[in-house]
Formats: sequence, C-alpha cells, structure tokens
Amino acid sequence: QLPHEFNEPVEFAIIGGTGLYDLPHLTPVARLTISTPWGHPSSPITISRNEEGFPIAFLARHGHHHDLLPSDVPSRANIAALKKIGVRAIVAFSAVGSLQQEIKPRDFVLPTQIIDRTKGIRPSTFFEKGFVAHAMFGEPFDLKLNKLIADNIPTSGFLDSHENKEGKPIFHTKQHTHKGEDLTVVCMEGPQFSTRAESKLYRSWGGSVINMSVLPEAKLAREAEIAYQMICMSTDYDSWNESEEPVTVETVVGNLKANSANAAKLTLELVKLISKEFSTNSLGIGEDLKGSMKYSVSTNPN
Ligand code: ADE
Repeated sequence: QLPHEFNEPVEFAIIGGTGLYDLPHLTPVARLTISTPWGHPSSPITISRNEEGFPIAFLARHGHHHDLLPSDVPSRANIAALKKIGVRAIVAFSAVGSLQQEIKPRDFVLPTQIIDRTKGIRPSTFFEKGFVAHAMFGEPFDLKLNKLIADNIPTSGFLDSHENKEGKPIFHTKQHTHKGEDLTVVCMEGPQFSTRAESKLYRSWGGSVINMSVLPEAKLAREAEIAYQMICMSTDYDSWNESEEPVTVETVVGNLKANSANAAKLTLELVKLISKEFSTNSLGIGEDLKGSMKYSVSTNPN
C-alpha cells in the first residue's frame, strides 16, 4: 500500500498510452487519487523517484486496465490533476500508425505539428461558462522540450528488446527515432481505424503518423501553461500501405510490447534530462508559457 499523499511539488509527468501502464524501472513512493472540477483523471497518479531522488508523476491515459476509449479519456481532469500537483512539463507517449514508408513499426517519432481529425465531441477547453480564451497553438508542442529530447536521445538503437525468449531477433532490428525535422501527427476520432482512402488523404496532407490521443491533450496542456511534447511509438503502417503484409493483432501486440519496454527505458533518460534542466534552467523550458493565458482571455470583465 503506497501513501496517498506527497508533499513536494512534482514538476515532471509522463502520460502513458496504449501498452504503457506504469514505469517499471522507477520506485513508486505515492499513489494520488485527485479530484478536479472536471472529475477524476483516467487513473490514480503514481509518484516515483529516480536514483537521484527527483520526483516524477505517471498517469495512464486509458486507465491502468485500459478501459477508456480514446473519445472517453477525461483529458481536462488529467491535465488539471497534473497542474494541481505542480507539473510544468509533460512527455506523453502514444501508440501510432505510420503514414510514411521510412517510419517503420517500432520506430519512435517526435512530432512538431498536429492535424485535427477528431469529430468535435471531446471537451477541449478549460474556458467556458462565461470565459472566452484563445490560446496560441501554431506550435502545438513545446519546441524547447522537443529540442532537449531530440538533442539527447540517440537516433537509433537505444533499445535491445527485439528478441524473443531465446534471444533471437523477431522483427527488423534497426529501431530509429525520427526527430529534429517537421513531423506531423494526425489525430482521428476512432475507435475504428481509417479507410484506405482516408489514410492516403492524410499522406497527401503531409501526415507522418496517426493516432487518436494527442488531442485535446496538447491543447489543454497549452491552456494550463504546461510544456508538452508527445513521443509517438509506431505499431503499424495504417491502411495506405498495400505492399506491406496485412497487420495481424499478433504483430501489433508484439510491437506494442517492444515499444513499451523501450519507452520505459527512455523515461529514465528523460527524467535525468528534465531534472538537470529544471535545476539549471539552461533552456528555460516553460518560461514563455508562464502567464501566457492571461493575455488570451478575451472576456470583457464588465
Ligand atoms: N494507433 C496505433 N495505430 C493506429 C492507426 N493505424 N490509426 C490510428 N491510431 C493508431
């Protein structure tokens, strides 16, 4: 039984997507059940410390037992709960389909842009009931956080989980991290995947990968003045790629598992990077977001 309280601010959070339901290499020290004006988050928030004692929050986007559809994720409660405990930067993981040949299953992608193909049914702002605010969203991810990650994680082979139980490689072995260039994630409503025509349309729009989760999470993080970057983990080629073998559930599950193991390892590096950045403030992550919403509210106070 972990304590339900933690009395220090927790400035860094990881949101785990499909396949990533906890952080196995970190020691949990508390599990918080947080209530917000927008309800409860998807899961309790686990607080862990790394070797140096730096605290980190973890939230499972679809619940610990994956019982939330993408359209039902309580994103406002998730972001509000992280804000409440002091979070200033979020790295969010997400399983994605690849829209480009060179982005192979099990590759990681650091996107810089988003195309919204959700259906407008997800509550996507904190500002309502008499408040009107327009957040800047031309750069939907935090460029400094993106740079910190891009500059410090290897482009390939930071992982070694391409083996079966006998240690034999079971899939292509050259894991690659696509970063430092314009990369676009298309966010669709789901839960069904795209038709082939839609998949081809998204390619023609310049989409790199597709998921069901980056929105409204990224918008709400911006409204909450939290630096936010997603790390996409490819599981399949979506439906445009007729030259690839049709995806089987087995392949996708295998890719998900390998991706989660890699994400968990990568998280250890991320925590080190962020804790160093927060103690030195060398990039000033989040500085430009501080107070940014104050000038975005356009409600006439009279
Ligand atoms: N998540 C993982 N693969 C996906 C795909 N092909 N489309 C949308 N979301 C996904």
